Amino acid sequence: MNINTDNIFPEVILDGLDTSCFGKKIHYYDETASTNLEAKKYAKENAPHGSLFIAESQSAGRGRLERAYYTPKYKGLWFSLLLRPKFNMEDAPKCTLLAAVAVALAMKEISLVAEIKWPNDIMHDGKKIAGILTEMVTNPDKTYSVIIGIGINVNFAKEDFPENIRDTATSLQIMKGEKINRAKFLQRVLYFAEKLYNKAEKDGFKEIFDRWREFSITLSKEVRVINAGDGKEFTGFALDIDERGALLVESQGKVRRVLAGDVSIREMGKNHDFSL
Ligand code: BTN
Repeated sequence: MNINTDNIFPEVILDGLDTSCFGKKIHYYDETASTNLEAKKYAKENAPHGSLFIAESQSAGRGRLERAYYTPKYKGLWFSLLLRPKFNMEDAPKCTLLAAVAVALAMKEISLVAEIKWPNDIMHDGKKIAGILTEMVTNPDKTYSVIIGIGINVNFAKEDFPENIRDTATSLQIMKGEKINRAKFLQRVLYFAEKLYNKAEKDGFKEIFDRWREFSITLSKEVRVINAGDGKEFTGFALDIDERGALLVESQGKVRRVLAGDVSIREMGKNHDFSL
């Protein structure tokens, strides 16, 4: 039985949801392995564009680079959006940046400062609040779907985090000093995500990239890049993101394009280097 009063039942999410498509069709799970897996399954079964898959908890929540992601009951928003883009498949990875900006704008609206660490971590004061895992699937009719999985630490107190991430994770509740209504916060993330998505479909991703740059804590910093695919790590200066969303890092006189991997920001001798 759900004795939690901060409900994210579909009827609660739908009540006041200001979108035309995102989140209008909801698959709610008390617990599932991963909402990204659910969305992938339904992508093959003609679930409509904008379908939302949301769980109170996940038994096998996944992050980038096949890492486990901690998603306990009633503490957060663990959800995936299924999109059926009209734009080219090569633009699909940019949806990660889109989602990061949507979360950052929803935070800004409740007066919380959001910082985006390339490519997809939402941070505050060096601590992680939210992460995004974007995946693509080919549909039976040869079109493709994009699954944007978003995990947001909402109503965690510090001691709710396991010890291994207690010092590197934070939550909206900790930042705000009070509990946050999860359904209302989700409504705003969906609202911004739909607005940004529609704009991208119409005019391209320029506005999303500009917004992403405004929230970025990675650009114009000394960074260490690890797990970039070739097994090597290197340090350099984060110049910008390119038109594909890759991070451009100047290192030893060359500009290197980083498409995947972890980036830690080097500030006055200390590194913020972690993942949830
Ligand atoms: C990361 O920071 O590495 C990405 C984390 C993404 C977590 C979300 S929670 C909802 C969705 N389902 C998953 O299994 N993962 C994403």
